[in-house]
Amino acid sequence: MSGLCKPIILIGFMASGKTTIGKSLAEILNRNFIDTDELIEERERLSIAEIFERYGEGYFRDVEEKVISEVINEANTVIATGGGCITRENTRKILREKGIVFWLKVNTKTILSRTNNDDTRPLLKGDRERKIITLLSQREPLYRETAHYIIDASKTPEEIVAKILEIISENFSN
Ligand code: S3P
Repeated sequence: MSGLCKPIILIGFMASGKTTIGKSLAEILNRNFIDTDELIEERERLSIAEIFERYGEGYFRDVEEKVISEVINEANTVIATGGGCITRENTRKILREKGIVFWLKVNTKTILSRTNNDDTRPLLKGDRERKIITLLSQREPLYRETAHYIIDASKTPEEIVAKILEIISENFSN
């Protein structure tokens, strides 16, 4: 399979813009857009918050790993992943081997402002700033290890999309 056919994967912390950017890229590149959080919710018939509440994070990660290992084999896709999928070693391996992986990198300040009043993300309940700082420091090495390309996602969606398209056309066109 040539690089161009591989799925385009977006990874990054909560609120880094994976869904917005993914939808836009899919439209421009005429690919199918897949949001793994959405698929998990459909499959489980529960919201992410309900899944965490009823069954815990471990169960959520199991479903997430399974969903990613399935959708990664679909042709012609842009896939937006959940922010914590890279905590599973197997998921990191699958993403890196089978996809073209872009890390939408954001800092604590941007995440804080984008998640103000957000009650859909169970892992940010309580002291949001402290939780973001802790999770980000644990996860940054994992995003780095998984990504083929690092994108500054503090920029506007238009700029981010343009940067990713530029990388794709420079590296994966005939
Ligand atoms: C999570 C991120 C969420 C969702 C779940 C857990 C995380 O996805 O998968 O709440 O562990 O970072 P988004 O990154 O789309 O918010």
